[in-house]
Amino acid sequence: MKIAVIHGQDHKGSTYHIAHSLAEKIGGEITEFFLPRDFGEFCCGCDQCFEKGAKYCPHYEKLKPITRAVDAADVLILASPVYVYHSTGAMKAWLDHYGWMWIVHRPRESMFSKKAVVVTTAAGAGMASAAKDMKDSLSFWGVPQIYSLGAAVMSTSWENVSPAIKKSINKRTDKIALKIRYSSDTPKASIKGKILFTAMHFANIIGWNPADRKYWQDKGWTGKERPWKSKKQGKSAP
Ligand SMILES: Cc1cc2nc3c(=O)[nH]c(=O)nc-3n(C[C@H](O)[C@H](O)[C@H](O)COP(=O)(O)O)c2cc1C
Repeated sequence: MKIAVIHGQDHKGSTYHIAHSLAEKIGGEITEFFLPRDFGEFCCGCDQCFEKGAKYCPHYEKLKPITRAVDAADVLILASPVYVYHSTGAMKAWLDHYGWMWIVHRPRESMFSKKAVVVTTAAGAGMASAAKDMKDSLSFWGVPQIYSLGAAVMSTSWENVSPAIKKSINKRTDKIALKIRYSSDTPKASIKGKILFTAMHFANIIGWNPADRKYWQDKGWTGKERPWKSKKQGKSAP
C-alpha cells in the first residue's frame, strides 16, 4: 500500500503526530511532504493549467514530486492544524494548484479508486470547516472514500495534550486504519463523483473549454468510457 501524507504545516506538533501514526498503522510505503517547505508557491492566477494544461503552470516542476506521489498513492492523508477556522494557508495554496484536476476539468483516473483521510487538530474549534477545505478538493478530484479525523486537542503543543485525549485519538486512528486496511482495494466511485462526471460529460460534448474537451475526447469520456472503469489507471504525472 502506498501512502502519501501532505502536512499543511512544517513542524511536528499534534497534527503531525496524529497523521504520521495513522499512516504507520495503515502500513506500507509512506511518503511525506511538509508545506510550505516542500512546496510554498501561491497560484498566480494565470489560468494556464485550465486553458492549456497542467504542464504550463509556472510551478509545474516544483510541484512534480508531490503530484507524482499523490498520483501513485493508494491512500492520501491530508493533514492541517486549524488556523482561524480553516486549513493552513500553505495547504490551501497547494490545493489551489490542482483546480485543473477537478472533475469539471481534467480528472485523473487514478483518483476514482483512492482512499483518503483528512486530519485536523484545533485547540478547541474549527475542525469541520478546516476539514471541508481539504475534503472539497479530494471529492472533486474524484476520490470516493474519504474519512475525517478532527481532534480538539485543547492545547497548542502535542506534549501538553492530556493522556485522555491522546487515548481517544489513538482509538480513532486504530479504527480508521482498520477500515482502510480491510475495505476493498478499489473502492467504487462515489455517487457524487458519478453525478458530477455525468453532468460534465454533457458539458464536454458541447465543449466550453477546448483543453478539457480534447482531454475528455482522448479518454473516450464523451462517449461510453468512464474513469472508474478504466483498466489503465494512469499513475504517471500529467
Ligand atoms: C494562526 C493560528 C490560528 C489558530 N486558529 C485556531 C482556531 O480557529 N481554532 C482553534 O481551536 N485553534 C486555533 N489555533 C490553535 C491550533 O489549531 C492548535 O493548537 C493545533 O492543535 C495546532 O496543531 P499543531 O500542533 O500541529 O501545530 C490556531 C493556531 C494558530 C497558530
